[in-house]
Amino acid sequence: MDWKKPGIITLPRIYDPRGNLTFVQDFDQVPFHIARAYWTYDVPAGESRGGHSHHVAEELVIATGGSFNVNLYDGDTWNTYTLNRPYEGLYIPPGYWRTLDNFASGSVCMVLTSIPYSEEDYVRDYEEFKRIASKKND
Ligand code: TYD
Repeated sequence: MDWKKPGIITLPRIYDPRGNLTFVQDFDQVPFHIARAYWTYDVPAGESRGGHSHHVAEELVIATGGSFNVNLYDGDTWNTYTLNRPYEGLYIPPGYWRTLDNFASGSVCMVLTSIPYSEEDYVRDYEEFKRIASKKND
């Protein structure tokens, strides 16, 4: 796994007739210390979340339930990842604009992230994001 780029990580699975189990551990399945977790749920059909990038935060996005799409833009190319397995995570390094959409009813989107919540780490203005990305891609 190239940790400079986004990618799907297959997480460990402990198979059990009582039900399966998956885990994520600091610096093991992810290249960062997990400082925070948050999750979105009850997303109405047709709604979209996200619409920002981060200066430094690294994230792992997991569909702990249901299914949705994560659309990532590096200022040059858009890529869409469908998450629908609770044992898969999408690693997102800093510097990627993301939107999340196509939520199936009842989906839960859990995000593990490398820093505590800080509004300063967000780029929420799309034009500003494109300016930052075009400087990086030069
Ligand atoms: P926002 O970043 O807009 O959500 P999305 O994941 O869809 O981009 O966050 C929505 C609100 O929740 C915003 O007011 C900031 C707040 N928030 C926190 O207080 N703590 C957190 O850890 C997160 C992720 C958001």
